[in-house]
Amino acid sequence: MSKNDELMKAAMAALDHAYAPYSKFHVGAAIRDENGVIHTGVNVENAAYPQGSCAEAGAIAAMVMAGGRRITAIAVAGQGDLLCTPCGGCRQRIREFAESSTPILICGDDVIKAEFTLAELLPESFGPDHLG
Ligand code: THU
Repeated sequence: MSKNDELMKAAMAALDHAYAPYSKFHVGAAIRDENGVIHTGVNVENAAYPQGSCAEAGAIAAMVMAGGRRITAIAVAGQGDLLCTPCGGCRQRIREFAESSTPILICGDDVIKAEFTLAELLPESFGPDHLG
């Protein structure tokens, strides 16, 4: 299996663990870090709606907790026919730990449906370099 397919499968497997009783829209995310380790996350909703969190945020938190500091690739898996691209806030969250060329794999139905670079999804972005 290719490394991208392995990441896609990890994001698809995470999808089943999403806690999304309100939107009923399950999202899974899988990150490969600079050590080759895969970290996963799901969306976790809350009865106080704004307190819900995205799958990408969960995967980033898992990576940081495990000692990873760089995203070398990230897969996001969602339901339905439309591409489950990361929300604006999550594009910025990914930006903190990734390069402009870092691949973002958009997955669903057990396949990689599209692939973008971070720069394609978040052009001319603000990041740690701006703070010196
Ligand atoms: N969601 C994510 O987990 N990641 C995204 O990038 C897009 C949206 C979740 C948040 C919420 O639980 C559900 O999808 C519907 O918006």
